[in-house]
Amino acid sequence: MDAFRITGGTRLNGRIRVDGSKNAALPEMAAALMAKGPVQLRGLPALSDIDNMARLMAELGCQIERDGQDLRMVTSDDGSWHARYDIVRTMRASICVLGPLLARYGQARVAMPGGCAIGDRPVDLHLRGLEALGARIELDGGDIIARADRLRGNTVFLGGPFGSTVLGTANVMCAATLAEGVTVIESAACEPEISDLAVMLNSMGASITGAGTPRITIRGCTELSGCDHRVMPDRIVAGTLAIASAITNGDVTLEDFPLDHLLAVVDRLQATGVRVQRLDELEPPGRCTIKVTSERRLKPVLFTTQPYPGFPTDLQAQMMTLLCFADGNSIVTEKIFPDRFLHVSELTRMGAQLYRQGGTVVVQGVNRLVGAPVMASDLRGSASLVLAGLAAEGTTTVSRIYHLDRGYKDLELQLNSLGADIERFNADAEDTAETPKTESTRTSSAT
Ligand code: EPU
Repeated sequence: MDAFRITGGTRLNGRIRVDGSKNAALPEMAAALMAKGPVQLRGLPALSDIDNMARLMAELGCQIERDGQDLRMVTSDDGSWHARYDIVRTMRASICVLGPLLARYGQARVAMPGGCAIGDRPVDLHLRGLEALGARIELDGGDIIARADRLRGNTVFLGGPFGSTVLGTANVMCAATLAEGVTVIESAACEPEISDLAVMLNSMGASITGAGTPRITIRGCTELSGCDHRVMPDRIVAGTLAIASAITNGDVTLEDFPLDHLLAVVDRLQATGVRVQRLDELEPPGRCTIKVTSERRLKPVLFTTQPYPGFPTDLQAQMMTLLCFADGNSIVTEKIFPDRFLHVSELTRMGAQLYRQGGTVVVQGVNRLVGAPVMASDLRGSASLVLAGLAAEGTTTVSRIYHLDRGYKDLELQLNSLGADIERFNADAEDTAETPKTESTRTSSAT
């Protein structure tokens, strides 16, 4: 298994472009299952999650051609409608084929995703939403089986104990595009990835209004065509790179930065004393160029993760790492996945002073972190350990970075291009005893 060896203490400096969004691309790839013509998705980074989704799509009968960051997908009428556990267990987001398969073939069999490192992650809201459209749902051998001769539009409420559901909204919105009549999703997820999916579906001939708000209206149609769609920039990668600049006293310019999607994060960065400066006004909507600079004299802040437009849970670990260097006590509250704190004990090994009670962590600022061997256990937690390594004194090794590779394309090369000192190496060769190569340690489970 690959690991990173990070020599900390370098100030990041330079210019870098933000890649396309993994979390937008995954449901958009699934939506291609409903198209009668070729779907061209542009700007997809070559991530292991994208590869896993492409593998699943191929198994479902979709022909896929990749040309650099572009993907062309063609699905035939006689494709398969069974997403097997072998693939679903490698990537939870496979659940987003459920709605498209059901809409296209009138039936779908999708292995029920299990929990993952960041929480239980049920799919009850997905199922309830599809049932409201007339699907009959049963469980068989760990698989969800959904059937409907013709889906019918309805009012669907998708609010749950932790807010709405992003992929649940994607599933119901996709299914409703081919349903008979009008569907109204109440308490829909407002995340930008849902708006981007709606833009893509509308370019395929769907009629969706209100995406990006809690009420989405979908007028069903009988057929969707192919499309050519550029995936939005990845707001979580963008936020991680901004924090990388801040935590190293850096001076980094980020192109294709989705500023409008990160206002809650920029607000908290500025509250700590990080400077975020917009350099242009002329970029396409949703993209701009910003400069992030910091002297790392940081003020402590409070923040709480919330559904969009609140502070994203996917940047909680990275922001917590930055706050380790603040001059005082910060308070971090996680309201989406209350157990998403696997990074806490690893950061503590580097000298962080973190006190957790339930879904809240008090971060007592320290003068320095010290390099140590640490282990990644989930995607965003891994990113936070890399950030800690950049700012720590001495050498940090982050093992099991296959978690990181799911959502960050060549992060070490990107950061090295800004002056970081990160080496990727094969940890098995150096330490076979402590990292047994079992299947379970290789299987990824988040996102
Ligand atoms: N929930 C339910 N019932 C459901 C679905 C969700 O109770 O049927 C709960 C979840 O347990 C959680 C909350 O609702 O407490 C929100 O979960 P959501 O369904 O919105 O998560 P998701 O759609 O499975 C996506 C992202 C996650 C991101 C969350 C929240 C993708 C592929 N994944 O997951 O991204 O954390 O939304 O914003 O889009 C990541 O990229 O690292 C990642 C985990």
